[in-house]
Amino acid sequence: MTDLQSDISAAKDEIESLRKLLNRYNYEYYVLDSPTITDIEFDNLLKRLDDLEKKYPQFYDSSSPTQRVGGEINKEFKQVTHRYPMLSLSNTYSREEISEFVKRADEALGVKNLQWVCELKYDGLAVSLLYEHGRLVRAATRGNGTVGDDITDNIKTIRSIPLTLQNDDYPERFEIRGEVIYPHKAFEEFNRKRIENGEEAFANPRNAASGSLKLQNPKEVAKRKLDCYLYYLIGDDIKQTTHTERLQAAKRWGFKTEQYYKVADSIDGIMEFIDYWDKQRDNLPYATDGIVIKLNEIQYWNILGATAKSPRWATAFKFKAEQACSKLISTEYQVGRTGIVTPVANFEPVWLGGTWVKRATLNNEAWMQKLNLCHNDTLVIEKGGEIIPKIVECRHDEDLEKSHNLQRVEFVRNCPVCGAELVKEADQSGWYCPNYNHCSPQILGRFQHFISKKAMNIESLGGEKMRYLLNAGKVTDFASLYNLTTSVIVGNYQTEDGKKLSIQDKGALNIINAVEKSRQVPFERVLYALGIRYIGEVSAKTLARHFENIDNLRVAGIDDLINVEDIGLTTAQSIYNYFRNEENLAQIEKLKAAGLQFEVVKQQTDNILQGKSFVVSGTFTKFSREGIKKAIEDNGGKNVSSISKKTDFLIAGDKMGPEKRKKAQAFDIPIITEDDFINMIN
Ligand code: IVH
Repeated sequence: MTDLQSDISAAKDEIESLRKLLNRYNYEYYVLDSPTITDIEFDNLLKRLDDLEKKYPQFYDSSSPTQRVGGEINKEFKQVTHRYPMLSLSNTYSREEISEFVKRADEALGVKNLQWVCELKYDGLAVSLLYEHGRLVRAATRGNGTVGDDITDNIKTIRSIPLTLQNDDYPERFEIRGEVIYPHKAFEEFNRKRIENGEEAFANPRNAASGSLKLQNPKEVAKRKLDCYLYYLIGDDIKQTTHTERLQAAKRWGFKTEQYYKVADSIDGIMEFIDYWDKQRDNLPYATDGIVIKLNEIQYWNILGATAKSPRWATAFKFKAEQACSKLISTEYQVGRTGIVTPVANFEPVWLGGTWVKRATLNNEAWMQKLNLCHNDTLVIEKGGEIIPKIVECRHDEDLEKSHNLQRVEFVRNCPVCGAELVKEADQSGWYCPNYNHCSPQILGRFQHFISKKAMNIESLGGEKMRYLLNAGKVTDFASLYNLTTSVIVGNYQTEDGKKLSIQDKGALNIINAVEKSRQVPFERVLYALGIRYIGEVSAKTLARHFENIDNLRVAGIDDLINVEDIGLTTAQSIYNYFRNEENLAQIEKLKAAGLQFEVVKQQTDNILQGKSFVVSGTFTKFSREGIKKAIEDNGGKNVSSISKKTDFLIAGDKMGPEKRKKAQAFDIPIITEDDFINMIN
């Protein structure tokens, strides 16, 4: 062996043993929750492995611990068809219905005292993980149960999901299903940061988990600290014949499995489990919304089968949302960035769903009237899957009621901040403050929206710093952000909750750099950033594509606007009115002068398909027929309607006619899929 060969072989050995070691430490930390080394030691080993893998790329392995955050940014997720459909569970809030379900299974099987495995029902997002030869090869969402999204790159960032399995008694190919959850602590921390950045908080961990897995950038997903519990193993050659044996096997292979399950052989046993967790679930570090019961013997699963939607061998009992009562203290009104006024009830603090709650939204005037909210009422407050509590009932003070002295809480008629008379738009439930340009919470809200990630992405300027710049008069309108200098920014300030903070030179420079970078933000996001009522991210994109620049949009009439896909009358009117306001127009001119993007940058059309002719047939999932034809032309190709010897490609969609296929085969013309075509033009 030459020196070089022996170096390479030593590197290979070291890479392999580092991978094993890191997988073990990872398992101990994220699955067993009992780390045996420090974070720094772990990071050093990971760094060593990463260096070696870079130096010896011939040993690349997509399942290496270094590859958890290695995925590309996905514009769209690939669709995958589930090998076994992903059914959901029948569910009920009634204990009687659970008993009936159990009895029905007893009768259908003719067996008494069947074993039922009782598990927690995790409140997250269902995923199906496919393993082949001990490696994670694909992860998919449930989608419509038959076809889901391929979210492998995002799933790999969840540390408790093994990329390679332990022991070696796993089947060659199997799927394991479970729930991706956002543990409370990580979720709260994440929401806190979002609020600080002027972003909207997620209502509950389930939405946040699901939103996270649909992010396009795995690096972002990796920051979210998601977790995953696995509860269902399926495959054609799984040896274990009971569900509990399968859970134990999965645990041996390195999965984080349901840890609180119990086997019950009577309805009483099942009820005990339900009662226990109904009380104890608040003490869990993640959200559960019920319990699931499953027959333990797999052979019975096949006998009982499933309805179109759910199996007959498993069902779910759902916990009722938790409620508490408390005395109303006061009602206040918050003004949002679009001027909408939201009533909020303050009440005596009550312990609910694991936290102290002292305020809850009353949604709008109609909700207050429906509740018939009166002074001195006792409120029934509920916290379901939602983290934000809501008021579901008002109980009036009996003495006041008897003496006919009940006093309704009336919705305010003037803005609680600037005093302007509130207005209501036809067909809208909420009142709003029309003092668009001079009402302070609206101004601050608009600035916080303008700098937010999905808008101008001026990240280094969080919500609190923005408040400071505005209050100190350092910023007066959006355009003035673009004239800031470090010496203007530097200073001391106090946050809303009284913390004393300061911005020094370095922080100021970061802000300047982020502002500078934002000049490149594309038109659709600038349009979203302007904060026009009812213009969300999606409609901003549609409008930008349709009108191509701000001037076309500015002069558009109501009719032109409602002709745009997904733009309704209310939105059209809001856009129209926005451009009839002199201050808004002046603002846009200033922003134009500051160099922001106010027109769509047309993509350079590539002539990558120059000289090639295509026949398109069938229906597609990612393109409309027109869309795919346009993509062919945009890339220099030619569409032809029928196949001849000269045709270069047939793009085959769903339900393509058999004649076309035959003809293409006869002329030896390559038949490609929609995805092949996308790869071609990318
Ligand atoms: S078993 C065919 N077990 O609840 C049965 N599901 O509507 C497969 N869920 O889609 C599901 N905890 O997302 C099962 N311990 C558990 C579960 C669980 C949560 C979810 C799952 C499913 C939904 C039921």
